[in-house]
Amino acid sequence: MNYSKKTVKDVDVKGKKVLLRCDFNVPMAKDGSGVITDDKRIRAALPTIQYLLDQGAAVIACSHMGKPVATFESYKKKQLEKGKDEASITEEKWKKSLAELRMEPVAARLSELLGKDVILANDVVGPDAQSKAAALQPGQVLLLQNTRFEKGETKNDPELAKKMAAMAELYVSDAFGAVHRAHASTAGVAGYLPAVSGFLIQKELDFIGGALANPKRPLVAILGGSKVSSKIGVINNLLEIADTIIIGGGMAYTFSAAQGGKVGDSLLEADWKDYSLEMIQKAKDKGVKLLLPVDTVIADAFAPDANSKVVASGQIPDGWQGLDIGPETVKLYCGAVADAGTVIWNGPMGVFEFEKFAAGTKAVAEALSKTDAITIIGGGDSAAAVQQLGYADKMSHISTGGGASLEFMEGKELPGVACLLDA
Ligand code: 3PG
Repeated sequence: MNYSKKTVKDVDVKGKKVLLRCDFNVPMAKDGSGVITDDKRIRAALPTIQYLLDQGAAVIACSHMGKPVATFESYKKKQLEKGKDEASITEEKWKKSLAELRMEPVAARLSELLGKDVILANDVVGPDAQSKAAALQPGQVLLLQNTRFEKGETKNDPELAKKMAAMAELYVSDAFGAVHRAHASTAGVAGYLPAVSGFLIQKELDFIGGALANPKRPLVAILGGSKVSSKIGVINNLLEIADTIIIGGGMAYTFSAAQGGKVGDSLLEADWKDYSLEMIQKAKDKGVKLLLPVDTVIADAFAPDANSKVVASGQIPDGWQGLDIGPETVKLYCGAVADAGTVIWNGPMGVFEFEKFAAGTKAVAEALSKTDAITIIGGGDSAAAVQQLGYADKMSHISTGGGASLEFMEGKELPGVACLLDA
């Protein structure tokens, strides 16, 4: 994939109406109060919005929020699949679920952060959006309703994409978190307007794309998280690029079991044992150093206050489960990071949400904070870990995309990037 894309700086935006796709899919308080619990994604879009306004553009911002369910029938089906009692599933609750995915809280927060009014449309491409877009003046910001309220959005419906495009003269994407989705507002619309990237996407492409295409070596990839199955693509792709791959987190137990180790009650994906062995062989064939845990912190229950002890990898008794990498593994992994040129980290080393089992993840975060290497943290859990542990400002780049950064590292083409004009 070509990571070199035109940006807002390469086009004339003065006096133009710009459709700006953001990823405002922010976490909201579970009580339905409309309180945004983390506004990082809104803040991350500010440089591009401010630049466009300063250059005399009118900004029509849009984003998806959550996964609204279009009909009561499909809502009911999903709730039943989740094991909900049929009598408890009401049309009122479905409507409430939709109301909770409206963009009002985002408009309010964006307005506070920008220090200016944000006009909110009641629809995406309906009469309200169209008339507000038509009346929009340079320096003003309009926010459309949740793009997923339109059925055609996730189907990348060309009619919807055309209607969105018709409201503007230029398309700017800054929604890195959604670039792995080929939806009408993330990709389709670029078929009908000149399309360039905003500063956030540019930064993500520079860092992640740079590390994949032309890394400062040695390139060390630290891969954690619970499942081998969710990281296969990343492991496979990085084995082509990295000098060292470090495996931690729950998925290490599948590697251990595949090599004949005893993993007790640890997370195990038995179907992925053969694949783990293939990866060990591939690393040997490619001359990539593959580091696996040499010891592990085990617990007698999956609980924050469980009894714990350290054992050698592959020696976990029944009734016990591994919840973190052990102290010898920490030394080994931190040593590998110390002289790296670039480090990519995706997935925690253990159950860092429990203080007792956070030491491995903490130690790796600390090692990354001290190295002179370029440090890139994948979105999702690893980004949350680094933030929670207080090391966020010590990293070169923390991705704003969970699924998107994962697919990027898998070497997949990202539809929301591929559709932008090449530089
Ligand atoms: C995310 O939260 O990772 C992005 O906003 C994409 O959301 P999605 O998985 O619902 O497409």
